[in-house]
Amino acid sequence: MALQLLLAGISYAREPVSAVRYPVKITPEMLLGKKLFFEPLLSENRKTSCASCHLFSHGGSYPQAKTPMHNGNKSRYNSPSIFNLSQNYPLGWEGQLISMQEQMHSLVAKQAKMGLNWDNIENRLRQQPAYDAQFSRLYPEGITRETITQALVTYQLALTTPSAFDDFLQGDENAISEDAKLGYELFKRYGCASCHQGQKIGGNLLQKIGVIEPYAYDPDDSSHASLGRYNTTENEADIQVFRVPSLRNVAETPPYFHDGSVSTLEEVVTLMARHQLGREIPASDIDLIVAFLQSLSGSPHPTLMP
Ligand code: HEC
Ligand code: HEC
Repeated sequence: MALQLLLAGISYAREPVSAVRYPVKITPEMLLGKKLFFEPLLSENRKTSCASCHLFSHGGSYPQAKTPMHNGNKSRYNSPSIFNLSQNYPLGWEGQLISMQEQMHSLVAKQAKMGLNWDNIENRLRQQPAYDAQFSRLYPEGITRETITQALVTYQLALTTPSAFDDFLQGDENAISEDAKLGYELFKRYGCASCHQGQKIGGNLLQKIGVIEPYAYDPDDSSHASLGRYNTTENEADIQVFRVPSLRNVAETPPYFHDGSVSTLEEVVTLMARHQLGREIPASDIDLIVAFLQSLSGSPHPTLMP
């Protein structure tokens, strides 16, 4: 009941979480980026596109813990969603990438995921009259690694997913269930919002997993994924530090955590409370928080969908 009273007092201007909206205008550059995102020609075997590991039917992520890669290995990390990205936050589980452009260049340079270098990609696209014409219309320099990157980045940044919760944040009291409203209140009260906040409800901080109660990962994992940001910096303070994930569409993107080791939201919330906040929270509160997390699901603008 105390919670019910609290809800009446919500002041939207001071919320730790803010709304996302669709792009004001869908541009030809976004549509070219869309074509490239689903283009298997960008991979050596002509079978893998960006969308093979960032599935639109799975919240922009991948349904298994790790993704199979071109080089025959599994990816070190669980594939993160490519929805609601922003230029302003670090990218990658280690927070190792400073911009979307850098992410694209790093992906191509390593060749692990798709197997082609920039020369291959440019040449393949130049042989396609449709691409040649589309690029020339948009960019005086035509098909180059920079313009390919530019179109892909523009498309991805346009993939915002306004949800029922965004309608609620903007004043529509009936947009989400009572459970979800109570869950949001608990999310703030327990302190989840100290790490998961802003427009992406996460995504803008680097934090250790196990800040209060140490967290043990599979010691036999040869990928060293659990070392987190340490893999980038080799600074001991960065062991088990990860970019705090965005919680938008989180109900659509199991399995969870950087290594995909947890399969349900109930379990994730229990672990978060225990290891990040030092609390055991009752099952009824967990269910309410999960109802809130479920209200964060939305889809990109229909024109930008596959
Ligand atoms: C073989 C699977 C695979 C393919 C193909 C793939 N990705 Fe990814 N992607 C991943 C994984 C795994 C990560 C996490 C990497 C990390 O954190 O170090 C990732 C991370 C990203 C990120 C960072 C997201 C964030 O929030 O940190 C972006 C952006 C991205 N990929 C875009 C693309 C684009 C664009 C393409 C196509 C050119 C692509 N990906 C192709 C698996 C893939
Ligand atoms: C001290 C910072 C911090 C606090 C507080 C915190 N989290 Fe997290 N959260 C993280 C980090 C870091 C991860 C990534 C852990 C990993 O991948 O190993 C994470 C992961 C998650 C995930 C999984 C997302 C995904 O896509 O894999 C969910 C869901 C989540 N947190 C919800 C919560 C909830 C609910 C609370 C409050 C009970 C909470 N978090 C409190 C830092 C925090």
